[in-house]
Amino acid sequence: MTETQKKAFIKTYGCQMNVYDSERMGDVLAGMGYGVTDTPDEADLVILNTCHIREKAAEKVYSELGRFREQKRQRADDGRELVIGVAGCVAQAEGEEIVRRSPAVDLVFGPQTYHRLPQLLSRFAEERQPLVETDFPAEDKFDHMPKLPRPEAPRAVTAFLTVQEGCDKFCTFCVVPYTRGAEVSRPVRKIIEDAQRLVDRGVREITLLGQNINAYHGEAADGRRWSLGRLLDELALIEGLDRLRYTTSHPRDMDDELISAHRDNPKLMPYLHLPVQSGSDTVLKAMNRRHTAAAYIGVIEKIRAARPDIALSSDFIVGFPGETDADFEATMSLVKSVGYASAFSFKYSPRPGTPAAEMENQVPEAVKSERLSRLQELLNSQSRAFLQSCLGREMDILIEKPGRKAGQLAGRSPYLQAVHVEDQHHGIGDMVRVCIDSVGANSLSAHTVGADADSLPRAMTTA
Ligand code: SAH
Ligand code: SF4
Ligand code: F3S
Repeated sequence: MTETQKKAFIKTYGCQMNVYDSERMGDVLAGMGYGVTDTPDEADLVILNTCHIREKAAEKVYSELGRFREQKRQRADDGRELVIGVAGCVAQAEGEEIVRRSPAVDLVFGPQTYHRLPQLLSRFAEERQPLVETDFPAEDKFDHMPKLPRPEAPRAVTAFLTVQEGCDKFCTFCVVPYTRGAEVSRPVRKIIEDAQRLVDRGVREITLLGQNINAYHGEAADGRRWSLGRLLDELALIEGLDRLRYTTSHPRDMDDELISAHRDNPKLMPYLHLPVQSGSDTVLKAMNRRHTAAAYIGVIEKIRAARPDIALSSDFIVGFPGETDADFEATMSLVKSVGYASAFSFKYSPRPGTPAAEMENQVPEAVKSERLSRLQELLNSQSRAFLQSCLGREMDILIEKPGRKAGQLAGRSPYLQAVHVEDQHHGIGDMVRVCIDSVGANSLSAHTVGADADSLPRAMTTA
């Protein structure tokens, strides 16, 4: 790194796909000679990679922009420039409006255009005018980016990898089909190549990403379109890759091949995030989810038959327009009958441009709050029960980082829980066999037992 190297600070909001995209923006910028920094003060370029899913998420961006505007002004006084870019889903949804509300913003570009950052930055250097790029280009952005990851990217044991993007489902509450565009699956070969490069750099666990990942149907070398289950089987052949996960799925697309993979693919971890949103068929219909509560429970039963110890997670929305007390109680009963290891729950937030925002029977804020706290109490008690059920059990932990205390390592269980391991003999990237000895509020503590899991045959390295 030279003294004069330009630096970029990228701040990420929202879902894992934004985390992945921010990394890839770092790769694109590295190709232009930028270094990525964690310190906004030393940055020449600041990019906010934004989320539009709920009102609060979108509003955060404007308060952050206020702070950077101030910094930009101070910089200008010192004769140095700070370029401010807004990327991601707020950029896509609001476009020009962002420049109107925050004149300090120089670049606005959506999730499908960040491979064009080099052209955008050089155009900006010439024109000195705010630029907004929010079309959905015909070319595939993945074909126009450097191979991942940039050599100086931080080394990690786990990584995200986007395999499918966009959504054609149009749930009536959701902005994603508008901000990410139509559903597109990446070809199998490119995914395998990306995964191999990650593994070559020391990654041992890959989480495949897609807004509707279980609808994956990417082109393969045999001329067919492969399902996610088939793709996971192919990825499992990569030597040195020990764990696979995927998120997020839609209940309608949980096909038999994917369910069988949970039984037959030893590298596929026993954890599934399968959002249901509501337990009421009336609400599900108004949400355009196109499945009933019973159909969802049917899918859960099939998955549990294939992988009895699977940890289940979900997303819930309370206070969707027209949701009655009885509808809400139906959600509570669904939660009771499924039993979740973890979950995310939200108050319905009306989003501009979505059909549900126009519905007349909006639920009062106080009712939403009351329902949310009841639901969260139930979900929290279930996740505590799941943690508790791990006590005394043996499982394999992939060590990701040093623990908080000396002599401790931190990693994750097959079920995605954070685990602190007392251990002096292993290091980052090791798979260790542990016994769980205590349960914290959101994590587990453990000590290593017996043989090193790395020396066990592959088929035994999952819990
Ligand atoms: N693609 C995923 C997740 C989309 S966004 C899926 O199909 O499930 C993540 C979660 O945010 C959703 O599952 C939903 O629970 C929540 N969400 C989306 N739009 C929302 C809104 N308008 N108000 C409140 N929560 C919302
Ligand atoms: Fe949004 Fe529904 Fe698509 Fe998920 S499936 S991204 S909730 S529209
Ligand atoms: Fe948010 Fe866009 Fe992800 S709206 S949740 S960053 S797809």
